[in-house]
Amino acid sequence: MISKNIQIHLPILQEKGIELYVKREDLLHPFISGNKYRKLKYNVAHAKNKGKLCLLTFGGAYSNHILATAAAGKEYNFKTVGVIRGEELGFDVPKTLAQNPTLKRAAEFGMEFKFISRQEYQHKKETVFLEKLAQEFPNSYIIPEGGTNELAIKGCEEILTKEDDVFSHIACAMGTGGTVTGIINSACENQNILIFPALKGAWVKEEIQSLQPNKQNWSVISDYHFKGYGKVSDELITFINQFKKETTIPLDPIYTAKMMFGVLDRVENNQFKKGSKILAIHTGGLQGIEGINTQLKQKNKPIIL
Ligand SMILES: Cc1ncc(COP(=O)(O)O)c(C=O)c1O
Repeated sequence: MISKNIQIHLPILQEKGIELYVKREDLLHPFISGNKYRKLKYNVAHAKNKGKLCLLTFGGAYSNHILATAAAGKEYNFKTVGVIRGEELGFDVPKTLAQNPTLKRAAEFGMEFKFISRQEYQHKKETVFLEKLAQEFPNSYIIPEGGTNELAIKGCEEILTKEDDVFSHIACAMGTGGTVTGIINSACENQNILIFPALKGAWVKEEIQSLQPNKQNWSVISDYHFKGYGKVSDELITFINQFKKETTIPLDPIYTAKMMFGVLDRVENNQFKKGSKILAIHTGGLQGIEGINTQLKQKNKPIIL
């Protein structure tokens, strides 16, 4: 499946002589959207081939990946289990679902939840913990948090196509690193991959280095996480609303808005040569807007329109 590249027209881009396009991966599917579609594609096929009946995965309460897995289960006939960080969410499940649009939709797609403490959640990659889950939920195909594994990376290698060779720069948000790894694998040697982590921390660079020991045409731009994962500011919300007004393209506050803010800020600060052609990947995540808006309203803050 190939998604469209849409050119962005903003005065700052014209002034600096730069072309910016957005690859609308968010439009691939209403719920299995953006990089989630790419990450799940080969995993779902593999689970079917192995005769598995259930997809089991991990995530936070507003996880894009949890909802995408629930939707994929419904579409491809798997039972789904979401192991969710935060045992308190399981104390009164109807109340949790009433307050959380992500989990509510996932439940509507038939997902069963197992709410665990933050401490227990830290064991999510450990064999003993995974074996226990496999016993509790027999015939499960276990997908890691964020959906990143080798098959996910293989799927993300299909984000860029031959037509994208014309771009000098590819910009993408990063969480676990699976998506950018796929992009780096399939990009041309002369393209610069700009990685915008949604998380704080120096480990990000090492993570990519370990996944990409042979390639050097990427850089990590760590200045746009807005104080860390899931944190939003009034400035970011204003940016999202302004960007949508000017381009009609919605951005999610956790990943794509931070990347796009960073790209345009760097355009403004002359970090791109005149004539640069940038392709920014819209990795989806728009389902998360409703949950963030609920939290913003409770704090009497401006919301995403
Ligand atoms: C919308 C969106 N964009 C980007 C990312 C980052 O992807 P990755 O975890 O593969 O780095 C995620 C997380 O999976 C996401 O949900």
